[in-house]
Order: sequence, then structure tokens, then C-alpha cells
Amino acid sequence: MPLFFNPLEAAAHRLSLVPPMFDYFGALGLHAVIAAARIGIFDALGGRPSTGVELATALDLEPRATDALLRALAGLGYLRSRGGRYRLTRTARLWFTTGSPTSLLAGLEFWERTACVIWPRLEKAVRDGSPATSFYALLESDPELSRSFQAWTAAMADRQAPAAARTIPVPRGATRLLDVGGGHGVFSVALLRRHPGLSATVIDLPQALEAAAAHPRLTLRAGSFLDDDLGDGYDVVLLFNVVHGLSDDETALLFRRLAASLKPGGTIVVGDQFIDSVMPGRASRTLLHLLNLNYLVTVGGRVRGLREVAALLRAAGFHGIRHRRPPGSPATELAMARRA
Ligand SMILES: C[S@@+](CC[C@H](N)C(=O)[O-])C[C@H]1O[C@@H](n2cnc3c(N)ncnc32)[C@H](O)[C@@H]1O
Repeated sequence: MPLFFNPLEAAAHRLSLVPPMFDYFGALGLHAVIAAARIGIFDALGGRPSTGVELATALDLEPRATDALLRALAGLGYLRSRGGRYRLTRTARLWFTTGSPTSLLAGLEFWERTACVIWPRLEKAVRDGSPATSFYALLESDPELSRSFQAWTAAMADRQAPAAARTIPVPRGATRLLDVGGGHGVFSVALLRRHPGLSATVIDLPQALEAAAAHPRLTLRAGSFLDDDLGDGYDVVLLFNVVHGLSDDETALLFRRLAASLKPGGTIVVGDQFIDSVMPGRASRTLLHLLNLNYLVTVGGRVRGLREVAALLRAAGFHGIRHRRPPGSPATELAMARRA
């Protein structure tokens, strides 16, 4: 929601002269965006600025209701109106139009289900500490939701992977990479592009691999990283955005299995959020804590501290732990370590 308070509004909120309505109205804003995306309003306005009536005619909508939605979207910061014509703001053009390389449209189904079906069970999750759903089992049983989730995580990975690939130390002569829970394969492909001698294997659940990237040196293996054979002799293992969904016991087990799958001296790269990170501001911290709550309600997981992850790595036989923040990738930091 690219909505910024003017000084008067900011003061009114700071002094609590007005009720804190943005939690309630933020939820409504999500529905306004989803409805507009499904109807095709962002794509239509991306092609040609239009009045509400022109848009209603072109998309076969009710004119007064269309006008109400357009005004709300303008208020939220996605449209601008001049001389009765609506046009997209830069934010809407970048993130909510179909042809944009940074489009988040494909992930809206996932966020709608998360906010409207899973989060209403937050109260129960907090009362008993267990997740509202078995999220990855749900994805495996629902191809449309799985596609949307993978599209969302791939869109995030597209932004992070080039910097991550530059930061990850792939030793000279390395030939084998394992991408654990690698889903779409975006992180693997970024490393394959930089290292022509490398081949990669993504292990993930079957439905997750349906939308995976294709590359001549990329192998997709359907299976569970907790139970199935992982192979051995890897130079590098990636574990991106996986441990936040696992219990401490599962994380410890997985780290031990990955230590056994690596060559001596091989590198594990854990890419995730860390709760003890220095964040650039209060809004970023708030997003991190809401994400932490999202992991609780969806998978019973949490954002761990870097120190906790390091202790689990050491207990599994890793050493030389290093922390890196790839530039331009605030949402995923790296903890890297070597097998003894
Ligand atoms: C949050 S996504 C991360 C995807 C990708 N690594 C990234 O960072 O964008 C977690 C991935 O772990 C996979 N996953 C969860 N449990 C798994 C299991 N037991 N075995 C294999 N994959 C699993 C999910 O299917 C999903 O693709």
C-alpha cells in the first residue's frame, strides 16, 4: 500500500487523535487489489488511461461500482486521476501488470488464501501453538494454489538470486550443487549461469516441481528432504527459505543429513530471515514480525536468530560460520558454513 501520511495525518495518528483504522482498511485494500487484478483493470489502464465509464464499457462492468473501485485504488496509491482519466502509478505498473518482469500478479491467489482462509485461524494457533494448516501438504493437494505459491516465491527469488549467486563462494573445480526445497529452481539457475562446470539437483515435493525452471544442467528430484535419499559428494548445498518452516528437531536432522551429503570441506548456504538482524527501520521490522507470525500460522515455523542457526549448524558438524547480506536482498540473508 504505497500510502504516505502528510504531516497533519502523521501527527493525528502519533497522538492517537484518530482510531488506528489502517489494520482494518489494509485488509479491505487487499481485496480491492485482488478484484482489480482479476477484472483486468491494471492491464487495461496499463495499455491506455481511461475514464471510469470507458473502462466499465471495455471490461463489461457496472459503471458506478467501477468508479468506486477506481477511487479506492487511487487512494491506495495505485492509480492517478487527471481530467477524469485514470492512469497507473509506477507502483501499479511495476508490480501489478501482466507483462512487467517484476509482476506479482501470479502470487495473488496464494496471498488471498493465506489472508482469508488461513489467518482467521491465528487465534487458535496462538492458543495452542500449532499451525492452522499443514501448508505444504495443502499445496501438494491443490495445484492452483501451489502454482500461485511457487510464482510468488519465484518472483521474490528473481530479485534476490543474482546478488546471492555473486555472494556464494563456489570453489574452483566444484561440479555438484544440491538445492534443498529449491522449488522453482531460480537460485540454482543463477549459480549455474555463473559457474559453467557446475550441475545442480533440486529436491522438492512433486507438485512444487511442476513449475520449476528448466536448464540443461539442472535435475529435478521429487521427494522429501527429511526422509528420502539426498545423494552424496556435493560441493555446495543450498537451503533457501526452508528452515523457517521446520522445528528445531527437524532442522537438526536435516543439517546432519546435509553434512553427510557434502564432500569434506563442502559448503552449506542457509538463506533465510534472521530475527536478530539489524533492520533499516520500524516498518521493515514490523514486516519481519508479521512474516514470523505467518510462518507460525501456516507451517508452525518461526524466524530464528542467526545465533540459533549457527548453534544448530555447529551441532551438525559444520564450522567456519559466516554471515552475509547480499546487496539488494534485505528479505534473505545468508549463513554459510563448511563441513569439517
Ligand atoms: C518457502 S519455499 C522456498 C523455495 C525456494 N527455496 C526459495 O527460497 O524461494 C519452501 C520449499 O520447501 C519445500 N518443502 C517443504 N517441505 C519439504 C519436504 N519435506 N521435502 C522437500 N521439499 C519440501 C516446499 O515445497 C517449498 O518449495
